[in-house]
Amino acid sequence: RKPMSLPRLREMHAQGEKITMLTAYDATFAAVADAAGVECILVGDSLGMVCQGLSSTVGVTLETMRHHTECVARGLRRAHATAWLIGDLPFGSYHESKEQALRSAVVLMQAGAHMVKLEGGGWTTETVRFLVERGIPVCAHLGLTPQTVHALGGYRVQGKTDESAAQLRREAIALQDAGASMMVLEMVPAALSAELTQQLTHCSTIGIGAGQGTAGQVLVLHDMLGMNLGKMPKFVRNFMEGDDNKSASVRGAMEAYVRAVKDGSFPVNATHAW
Ligand code: KIV
Ligand code: NA
Repeated sequence: RKPMSLPRLREMHAQGEKITMLTAYDATFAAVADAAGVECILVGDSLGMVCQGLSSTVGVTLETMRHHTECVARGLRRAHATAWLIGDLPFGSYHESKEQALRSAVVLMQAGAHMVKLEGGGWTTETVRFLVERGIPVCAHLGLTPQTVHALGGYRVQGKTDESAAQLRREAIALQDAGASMMVLEMVPAALSAELTQQLTHCSTIGIGAGQGTAGQVLVLHDMLGMNLGKMPKFVRNFMEGDDNKSASVRGAMEAYVRAVKDGSFPVNATHAW
C-alpha cells in the first residue's frame, strides 16, 4: 500500500469508498490498526478518558497530546505503516488566537501528525483558514463537541431542532470554505449528516453516532474492543464479538470494523435513530 495522502482521501471520497478511522494512543495499537487496513488513525483527546481516567477531555494538555502523537507516529514508522495520522488539538490550545492555534498545531505536526483536528464552528472558521493557508491540513469537528460538554449540558445529540440544524449547516459550509478537508460529525441525526455529506463535496465527513450516510466512520478504539470505564455509547458496536471476528483478536476486530464500514453494514441507522 502507498502512504495515505490528502489526494488519495479525496479520491476515495469522490468514488464513494468509505474512509475508515480509529483512534489509537500508543505505538502498538496504531501499528496493528494500520495492518488491519484502517486508513486514518486519530490520536484523540479521548485519551483523557481512555488512558488517563479523566471524566471529560477538558483536562487534556497539549504536552500529553504531543507525547501520544509521537508514540503513535513512532509505532507507525517502525511498522512501515501507511495510515494518515491526525492529532487532536486539546481544549485551550487553539482558543486564544489564531497564532496560538498555529503554535499548538506545529507541536503536533512536529510530533508526526499529518493533520490536526479542532472542535466547533463559527469562531474556529478563521483559525482553520489560518492553519490551512500555512500548510497544515485540518479536520473540523461538529455536532457533539466533547471539549464543550459543560456548555452543552451533557453528551447528547446535536442538531435535532430546525434552528440547531440550520446552524450546523452554516458552520459546516463555512469550515469547508475555510479549507477544512475532513469533518467529524458526532451524534448528529442520520438524515442531517447525510445531507451535509451531499453538500460538502470538498470535505470528507467522518461520522460517529451520525448514521451511515457519511463519507467515513470513526470509533474510539477501546469502545469497539468492548472496553469502557463508563457507559458504552449506544452507537458503538463491539467488534471483538460476532461471527466476523472468529479469532476474537484485536486485529480481527479491526479487520471486521474495516469490512463493515466498507460494505455499509456498520453503522446501521436504526440502532441510533435520533
Ligand atoms: O477524541 C476522540 O476520540 C475524537 C473522536 C471520537 C472523533 O474526537
Ligand atoms: Na477528540
